[in-house]
Amino acid sequence: MTKATKIIAFAGSLRKDSFNAVLVKQAAEAALYAGSEVEVVNLADFDIPLFNEELESNTPEGVQQLKDKIRDADGLLVASPEYNGSISGVLKNALDWVSRTEPDQKPAFRDTTVALLSTSPGGLGGIRGLNHVRDIFVGMGSLVLSNQIVVGSSYQAFDQSGKLTDESMASRVEQLSQELVSTIQKLKD
Ligand SMILES: Cc1cc2nc3c(=O)[nH]c(=O)nc-3n(C[C@H](O)[C@H](O)[C@H](O)COP(=O)(O)O)c2cc1C
Repeated sequence: MTKATKIIAFAGSLRKDSFNAVLVKQAAEAALYAGSEVEVVNLADFDIPLFNEELESNTPEGVQQLKDKIRDADGLLVASPEYNGSISGVLKNALDWVSRTEPDQKPAFRDTTVALLSTSPGGLGGIRGLNHVRDIFVGMGSLVLSNQIVVGSSYQAFDQSGKLTDESMASRVEQLSQELVSTIQKLKD
């Protein structure tokens, strides 16, 4: 019997027209189609200040909301922009906040299964940044799928409705989302 799975999907960009947000939405739809509960969240909707240990005695509400969602999920779909060959500051800041442990609570990223995606206007599609994102999630105790999606030439890669124009790339996104859902289900057996 298939087990219920819950996935949170987000991009590491606050930009209204973020290509990574468009990409992660396509992956989220595929995960929904593969039978998972999926919630797409926008980091811009959470009040997440720049991390400062002095603020930790009174965790900002937006941080707590994101943290609770992630702790409650079985898996994540994360699309990260590449900034200067690495992770975006927005994503790193959010991950740093959410990674902070709380008494008697499971660390939010521990045992979470993560699928990574990236798109950028360049030819490499953000793969250098994704390597850093992968290291960070592994360090926080997540299981990161070996497969990942990297989409170059983002200005040409999506049609007006935000769908990937390259069918083979669209099918790879579908496969990644299916793998995420099936891996989570296997881990629940
Ligand atoms: C500070 C900064 C650094 C960037 N560095 C890179 C980079 O190293 N490699 C790359 O492919 N694109 C780089 N870009 C371009 C981003 O990939 C591009 O703006 C992308 O659309 C951002 O993702 P988004 O559309 O999801 O917001 C950089 C952009 C900014 C603002």
